[in-house]
Amino acid sequence: MLSQRAYQDAQGIRDWIVQTRRELHRFPELMYEEVRTSHLVRKTLDELNIPYRYPLAETGVVAALGNGDGPCVALRADMDALPIHEETDVSFRSEHPGKMHACGHDCHTAMLLGAARLLKQREAEIRGTVKLIFQPAEEGGAGGQRMRNEGALNDPPVQRIFGLHVWPLIPTGTLGSRAGVFLAAAGEVELIVRGRGGHAAMPHLAIDPVSVAAKLVTELQTIVSRELDPLNSGVVSITSIHGGDAYNVIPPAVTLRGTVRALTMDVFRFVQQRVREIATQIGSAHRCEVDVRFPGNDYPPTVNDQVCWNVAKELAAQLTSPGNVHELPPVMGGEDFAFYTEEVPGCFVALGMRNEALGAVYNVHHPKFKADEDALPLGTAMHVAFAMQSLEDLR
Ligand code: NI
Repeated sequence: MLSQRAYQDAQGIRDWIVQTRRELHRFPELMYEEVRTSHLVRKTLDELNIPYRYPLAETGVVAALGNGDGPCVALRADMDALPIHEETDVSFRSEHPGKMHACGHDCHTAMLLGAARLLKQREAEIRGTVKLIFQPAEEGGAGGQRMRNEGALNDPPVQRIFGLHVWPLIPTGTLGSRAGVFLAAAGEVELIVRGRGGHAAMPHLAIDPVSVAAKLVTELQTIVSRELDPLNSGVVSITSIHGGDAYNVIPPAVTLRGTVRALTMDVFRFVQQRVREIATQIGSAHRCEVDVRFPGNDYPPTVNDQVCWNVAKELAAQLTSPGNVHELPPVMGGEDFAFYTEEVPGCFVALGMRNEALGAVYNVHHPKFKADEDALPLGTAMHVAFAMQSLEDLR
């Protein structure tokens, strides 16, 4: 069977995938700075004799395999790391202080390079095109949007797209996802509360932005608890407060930052609007001005196509066993894979990575996040199987 052969082949190059991943892990690079990473991707593609377009979105690479005569399916990996200082005990830990592949994008890139290698071996069987998208800046930089805008899904037009993410919430050897909304619309919010600084002993001569900031933190929680339908999901998290340097001085301003999330764009825009209204009104009730900004890139929700999830689920069951494939509930994390599925049907799949014996129990974005490398061949095989099966289906 197609998928079992893919898994055997992926197991056969396990060491190569692991070595590639470890090399990437040692030299993590932040968004739009993935120079070394992108170079490793291109060098590998050159060695495999696979043509590619470069650069897209600064450091992005789009490779293509096949005879071009038929449908086109895309496989996507992200390449960027996070501004986190690594605290794991692995021998290949980050050599860039303050930067870490804490979201497993090193695994994603290595798994897709593994797929490139296996797909090259069977290129004669590829009737159509398989595109391999290596993108920068998933972590807030909307690299996926730039790749899309710069034509990653065109020439030839992509008809299905597939992406994987390591998932420490489910065990190694399992996979999961769902049809419909899988990941949330997500964006950043920044609130600058401006009052008038002064001596803390004479608050009546100042306008205190600190007490207003405190009110904002609690009042903004009523949007989700009091204004959204309880069956609708939303998040407002204030994650950072900065203002003042001395115990006896009222500062002139306080800056709050955080994130807003929802499972649909309608709810997302509603929450943003209510954050703006509540913050402004609470500010003026207490003689402060509040600047409300949504400065980052707002990610739309990641919506999986039913047919693509059916294909992925079926292949995952063949590769492992039906009991190892999970229908997962949506999660409020965001993903810029959403920019691709806005345009073409696709599926984003969670690849299990939890392994208690190995200490691979920390969630992504944690300084102790550790990947279970035994999951990597499964990811590579999923890429290969999804591409080959989808080309058959689309003919
Ligand atoms: Ni990630």
